[in-house]
Amino acid sequence: MRDRNFLLENNAKPIWHPMAHPAEMRAQPPRIVMKAEGVHVTDIDGKTVLDAVGGLWNVNLGYSCDPIKKAISDQLGALPYYSSFRGTSTGPSIELAFELTEWFKPEGMVRAFFTSGGSDSVETALRLARQYWKIKGQADRTKFLALKKGYHGTHFGGASVNGNANFRRNYEPLLPGVFHIPAPSTYRNPFNETDPAKLAQLCATAMEDEIAFQGPDTIAAFIMEPVLGAGGVIVPPDSFMPLAREICDRYGILMIADEVVTGFGRTGAWSGSRLWGVRPDMMTIAKAITSGYFPLGATLIGETVATAFEADTSSFGSIGHGYTYSGHPVGCAAGLAALAETRRLRLDENAAARGEDLAAALAQLKARHPIVGDVRSKGLMAALELVTDRDSKKAADKKTMARVADAAYEAGVMLRVSGNTIILSPPLILTSADVTRIAEGIDAGLSAAG
Ligand SMILES: Cc1ncc(COP(=O)(O)O)c(C=O)c1O
Repeated sequence: MRDRNFLLENNAKPIWHPMAHPAEMRAQPPRIVMKAEGVHVTDIDGKTVLDAVGGLWNVNLGYSCDPIKKAISDQLGALPYYSSFRGTSTGPSIELAFELTEWFKPEGMVRAFFTSGGSDSVETALRLARQYWKIKGQADRTKFLALKKGYHGTHFGGASVNGNANFRRNYEPLLPGVFHIPAPSTYRNPFNETDPAKLAQLCATAMEDEIAFQGPDTIAAFIMEPVLGAGGVIVPPDSFMPLAREICDRYGILMIADEVVTGFGRTGAWSGSRLWGVRPDMMTIAKAITSGYFPLGATLIGETVATAFEADTSSFGSIGHGYTYSGHPVGCAAGLAALAETRRLRLDENAAARGEDLAAALAQLKARHPIVGDVRSKGLMAALELVTDRDSKKAADKKTMARVADAAYEAGVMLRVSGNTIILSPPLILTSADVTRIAEGIDAGLSAAG
């Protein structure tokens, strides 16, 4: 690799970064992360900080998981690549598909279609939903319903069901026939409702109204994250996802659970669907499937959809969709090792226990810092929403957010800022001492802003 000066000189010049303005990145180049160990990352200046971001919601097992590294290296030696397109299959992809359908049996998943990441998984689910209705002879069912503030990746399908204008405006027109209903956020919702059960009912009614307006027989699927991640860790009231499932059943609409973040224990349950006691028709997974060590994702398919495809005798059941890297043997080998470690270490239980520690620590920070308008968490996904004052709930500005993140970094903790929200998604191997360090880092950040 070239030397330090080369990296500093060229930082943010030949490379454009996702979700950033290229000129802003040039003016203020990003930190260069050089190495990592356990739950810590070290930058080009040799500064080591606790990674409270967990890479990008994905490094659940931390950075020193030897079984995954070994599985990758062994697989590279045996078979670095072969395709899963019609005609060939590979050992690790068969084995991982088997393991995933076992793992997600309580959610009713019976088949896996491999992808290269979360956006691919969402795209696959949307396309399979459309195809399902063609197989069923209801070709008019093409529309999708989604939640405002939802995030479903950046492909045209995913951006279309996305509920945040920042990810939509510059790319419109998007897919026609997509309709959004209010997010069940007790902190900010159009009904000014703070009671969780009442809010869930209001949002469910809005969903049903939209279905009636569109015509139930025109809607293919409803997609939601069980806990909304990138939208600011919005934890729906307990009753919302079950209510949405009931509505989907009533009108014959498929339910897609986007579990790209919530899929492998992050909320304290093995999936967000399991957390809320819901069996979706399809699930999208990625990120922690390999703990971030290799790009991989999957769309999991439940019995209803699988049966329709497999029983089809017309040409409609043939899947005209897939990626060169669908079922990549190295990714699948990494996935098998990550799954085994995730199960062995009972990361769901640790996320639940450390999540309680974190929630208590964040509540204390909110009590001490008036700039914190709201604190939300489920397991080890958490957010602090910063405001200028609690009555108006006016969002804290960009400069304030940067000051918080910089001061926290100086104090030894990497945070992620999204709009006026600090997002936390640390590795699930976190200890109680790590939770204390994260809280101390945020405390330092908030003190610098206040
Ligand atoms: C819920 C959800 N769906 C889809 C995606 C897209 O995944 P990827 O960035 O791997 O394409 C993300 C990414 O953060 C996500 O949070």
